[in-house]
Amino acid sequence: MRFSTGRCTDLVAIGNDRLQVKLDTKHIPLPGQFMLGRFWRTIYPYMNTVLFPTTTKSNGFTIEIKNEDTRSNYLSLGSKVSLIGPCGKPILINKTTRHLLLVANKNPNKLLSFAQLALTSGIDVTFFISCTYPVKSLDPRIEVHRGELRPLLEKHLDWAEQVLMDFNPGPIIRKLLDPISSKIYVLSDLMMPCGSGACHGCSVYTKSGWQLACKQGPFFKLSELQTEFE
Ligand code: FES
Repeated sequence: MRFSTGRCTDLVAIGNDRLQVKLDTKHIPLPGQFMLGRFWRTIYPYMNTVLFPTTTKSNGFTIEIKNEDTRSNYLSLGSKVSLIGPCGKPILINKTTRHLLLVANKNPNKLLSFAQLALTSGIDVTFFISCTYPVKSLDPRIEVHRGELRPLLEKHLDWAEQVLMDFNPGPIIRKLLDPISSKIYVLSDLMMPCGSGACHGCSVYTKSGWQLACKQGPFFKLSELQTEFE
C-alpha cells in the first residue's frame, strides 16, 4: 500500500450542487483505479472513503464532491487529504476501439477519467446518463444522451466497441447486453473500506470464483460476473 498526502490546490463549483477538487500528489490513479482518502484526523483505520479521479495530470488528480457531502467541510485551498493508493486494476482502452460508450445511472463522475483518456487518444466518447448532472461541465466533445438507460441501450448498442458502466444491470438489461458482455466493464457497487485485500468486504462472485473489488476490480467484465438470477 502506498501512503501519501494530497494537497487541495483548486476548488471549482460545478452546477449548483457540487465541487471539483484538485488534489496535488505524486501518486496518480489510472482510469479504473481509485484512491482511499481521509479528510480528517482519526485513529480508526476504516474511515477512508473511495475517490475516483475525474481527470488526472502528472502532478495530481481531480475529484468531484457534492456540497451536501460532509467531506466538503474539510476542503479548502491548502488543506490536506491522507491518501492510500492507487488501488485496484486499471482498465485499458482496446487499441481497436474508436468509439467508447459510458453509462451511469447515479453519478457519471466515476467514469470521467475514461472520457479524458479516450478523447486524448482521438477516440469518440458517448455518455448515457439517467440522473441529474450538470452536463455543461463536461468536455463538449462528449456526446451526451440523457434518459432511461434501457431504451438508450436498445437503440445504440450496435456501435459500442467498448463499454464502461457505473450501473448494475438487472436481468432484462443483462439479457439485452449479453451479445456484447465481453466488451462491457461494470463498476462494483460494493464498499471498499480497506483497499488492501484485508477486510474481504468487497468480495464479488465471478465465474473464476470470489474476487476482491479492491484488488482484481473494481471494474469487472460483465461476461465474468455471476449474478443471483443465474
Ligand atoms: S476493501 Fe477490504 S478487501 Fe477489498
